[in-house]
Parts: sequence; structure tokens; C-alpha cells
Amino acid sequence: MKRIAVLTSGGDAPGMNAAVRAVVRKGIYHGLEIFGIKRGFSGLINREYFRMKLGSVADIIHRGGTVLHTARSPEFLTAEGQQQAAAFLRDEKIDGVVVIGGDGSLKGAKALGEIGVATVGIPGTIDNDIPLTDYTIGFDTAVNTVTDAINRVRDTATSHERIFIIEVMGRDSGQLALFAGLAGGAESIIVPEDPIDVGEVCNRLLRGVKRGKLHSVILVAEGAGGGLYVGEEIKRITRLDVRVIILGHLQRGGTPSAFDRILASRMGAKAIDLLLEGKGGRVVVCRNGCIDSVFYDDLLSRKKGLSRDDYQLAGILAI
Ligand code: F6P
Repeated sequence: MKRIAVLTSGGDAPGMNAAVRAVVRKGIYHGLEIFGIKRGFSGLINREYFRMKLGSVADIIHRGGTVLHTARSPEFLTAEGQQQAAAFLRDEKIDGVVVIGGDGSLKGAKALGEIGVATVGIPGTIDNDIPLTDYTIGFDTAVNTVTDAINRVRDTATSHERIFIIEVMGRDSGQLALFAGLAGGAESIIVPEDPIDVGEVCNRLLRGVKRGKLHSVILVAEGAGGGLYVGEEIKRITRLDVRVIILGHLQRGGTPSAFDRILASRMGAKAIDLLLEGKGGRVVVCRNGCIDSVFYDDLLSRKKGLSRDDYQLAGILAI
């Protein structure tokens, strides 16, 4: 293993830069040549790459987003696109690729592995929806960002005695809604994993009103019906004063938390170790505080569920 490429793919996540930095610096430490691929898998197909030196990753550990840029590549989903990517890597004598991204990106890394390229995946997504790892890069920062938004909204919700619905990201996953809801003390949390029951949410609100509690913050994951729908329903059923906020992409930006930087640094370094040991075909994970790795199939064949205990706890504490 002499020449290794690194790319970021799918939705960006704070901490991706710290992971790129770790791959580059750990690789150079071991005498490897490292290449940065621009715009995810599209960059492999379009041959957009550059040699990365120690200085290429200076001053990026604290920056959100990804200096390599990212994209979702429909071309790479085709057999032809994958062959073009493999041909580029063969031509450039690149022996291994580190792919940083969410579930779609890890599937892409697996596909590349199946046509003969050694790949290692690093889970990077604010969704934290990757199984067999407790945390993905970017999740902790996003939880803090949403918690900060809840704090701010709570001030105005209390002052005006209003109901605020906050929609957070998570097409198929309620992890972000649950963790930020727990941290921010949300009165209700609506997640895709649990069938939506707006009626029950309204009953809770009306019970609160009877006790004199006129403000509430309700978190809705985007995949659980969406904030606008939930807001309209609550307004229609309760006739309370409701406002809806969609946090959107501001949840994906911002300076990464210390936790995400450390996680990303450890995962990036592990990816290099795995490639040097000839252990491609794996995803780096973090379990019980330890960095480890699992095979693509073990991870991609599962779905990460919400912690039932945490979900119940959020309900109990919001009484
Ligand atoms: O996967 C990360 C994520 O932010 C999801 O939570 C969200 O549903 C999606 O990406 C949004 O994607 P895009 O930026 O392409 O609109």
C-alpha cells in the first residue's frame, strides 16, 4: 500500500475536515502518498484529484463542511460509473480509498470494494443512523446546534406563551430529534420510528394548559410528517397559538464540537491502520468508547433503531 485516496460524500457533517486531516497526516506519517478526491464519487469518475501534503490540511480541524467538497453522485450508482472510477484508480496506481459519509456513501465504498479496490468507510453524517457505531461524525455538533436553537426558541415561547414546533433533519431517523429533545427538554418528540399520534400530542398540550402551562416546544424529525403538517394539525385540534420553525441546513454547518473532532481524528487514523494491515472492506466504528471496525455487510444489513429507554425517558421527563 503506497498511494491512498480520501473522499467525502453525501450530506456534509461537521468533523469531516478533522477526519480528512487525520487520514492525510497519519498516512504521511507512515510514508504513504495521499490524494484528495473532490466532490465525492463524482470526482473519481471525473478524475478530479490532487496530491495532499501536510500543509493541505492545516487550519481545517475547526471548520465545518468539507474542504474536499461533497456530492451525491447518480453516475456512481451505475456499473459503468463504478468501472470508470476503478479505471481511474488503476491508472493512478492508487491502492486504497477512504470514504467518509453516510449510509449511501458506505454502500458506494462497498461497491468499489467489490470491483477490486481496497476501501475503508468512515461514518460521517449528522443523522447518526449508521448501525454498529454509537456515534457518527457530525452528530454531536448537530445535537448541540439544535439544543442551542431550542434554548433560544424556549425564551420566546415562554414570553409569548406559545407552542413552537421545531422541525429537525432526519429523513428516516429520529436520533437527532431524540437527543436534542432530551438535551433541550422538549415537551414532545415526534420521530419516524414511532407512528405519529398528533392526537396524543394535543392531549398532552391541553392537559398542560389546564395546569396553567401555556408554552411548549415540540420537536419533529423531518421524516415524521414534517413540522408544517404537525403544526397545522395541532392548531386545528387545540386552537392554541402555534408557530413552526424548520431548522434545515443550518444544522449541518458550524464549527465541529471537540467530541466530533476527536472522534474524527481517531476514525481517520484507524482507517489508515486498516489499509496498511490489508484489512479493506470495512467500516470504522466507535463502540463503548473504543474505535473498532466491522465488515460492510454486517453493518449495511442492519437498521439502527432508536434507544427505547431514551425515548421513554424523554416522555417521562416531559410530563
Ligand atoms: O443525511 C443527512 C441529511 O442532512 C438528512 O438529515 C436530510 O434528510 C438530508 O441530508 C438532506 O439532504 P440535502 O442536503 O441533499 O437536501
